[in-house]
Amino acid sequence: MTAPPSLLDPGTERDPHPLYRTLRGNLPLVYDAPFGAWLISRYADVRAALADPRLAAPSPGPALARREDGTRGAYRTLVSSVLGERASAALAAGVERTAHVLARRLASRQEADLVAEFCQWLPTAAVVAALGLPYEDTARVHAWCRTGLDHLGGHRPALAAYLRPHIVRRRAHPGDDLLSALCAARPGGRPLPDEAVTDLAGTVLGAAGETTARALASFLANLLDHPRQLELVRARPELTGVAWAESLRHDPPLQIVPRRALEPIGPIPEGATVACLLGSAGRDPARFADPDRYDAFRADPGELAYGSGRHVCLGAPLARLTAEGGLRALLTVLPGLRRAPGPRPRAEGLISRSPRTLPVCPR
Ligand code: HEM
Repeated sequence: MTAPPSLLDPGTERDPHPLYRTLRGNLPLVYDAPFGAWLISRYADVRAALADPRLAAPSPGPALARREDGTRGAYRTLVSSVLGERASAALAAGVERTAHVLARRLASRQEADLVAEFCQWLPTAAVVAALGLPYEDTARVHAWCRTGLDHLGGHRPALAAYLRPHIVRRRAHPGDDLLSALCAARPGGRPLPDEAVTDLAGTVLGAAGETTARALASFLANLLDHPRQLELVRARPELTGVAWAESLRHDPPLQIVPRRALEPIGPIPEGATVACLLGSAGRDPARFADPDRYDAFRADPGELAYGSGRHVCLGAPLARLTAEGGLRALLTVLPGLRRAPGPRPRAEGLISRSPRTLPVCPR
């Protein structure tokens, strides 16, 4: 008997879609021994798995997303309330300012790399602004986002030390920013300890710094690869949101969301790891017509890239705001923006996936 295909097979990281097709067609639930997880690949199954209370997010870590105990619900409520209107306004202002600064830096250049010079900076700089931290600290925070923090957690002693004086100041003199909102929050009638404020600020920075940056790189690559669709989005900016959602379907930055089985589920034993393949679900022909085509005007691109069920992403509106503001600034400041001649840079990564470079001619 031949072993089933694996995510770790040669070539899969380069292009996982042939494997995804095989899995969806013939092996919708299969154990991938080299990868150490049960793979779920069809759209409907991934959606159901993410909503299944018998499948828990990996345990246990400091961040909100890993809290499976009784405090999770309270933290989710808290995060969504602080990420609400006030954060959106602070973030929108940060995105607007930063995106224009970054775009203007490229304006006189013959060639530039949008990943290194735009996508990797914009989300972090925008959250730095939203938190009310000094703009000149962006590079430092950016370095932590790239090394120590991931989308849902990570150890952050350096970030904690950096934030401490800012938290002390916000507690004494609250401002209009997101860090002040976290300091002022009183879940259950009591203020959050500094550790929780740092934890939540780190979650926001981690998510923005890495995942949104990757998603933005794929979004801009998809539009620059389809100049006619880009022109239509330029002419009708109200379509940007759908073009963004379609890019998340076609190229979700988080290709795999892991779960742990709390009890046996069919052939899956208790304690086993289950990999929900978001990248495969988004290309499922049972859910999407012509799924491998990027169509900025697709009527219903779905929203599975943000997860589903009780862990569904709390930052989706902020990510969208970053993408819309970023694109708007690029199209305004660099009206001639186009792909640089040469081969299309490939996306890379099995779990987090996006193009690592995006060479463009800014003028
Ligand atoms: C395009 C950008 C983004 C994508 C594709 C994305 C995707 C996801 C996914 C798939 C999950 C679910 C993980 C799971 O089920 O285990 C998630 C959770 C989460 N995301 Fe995002 N995210 C993005 C941006 C953001 C931003 C900007 C923020 C914050 C400002 C954020 C905050 C969170 C939080 C707090 C959770 C945990 C929710 C919970 O477990 O209750 N995300 N995200």
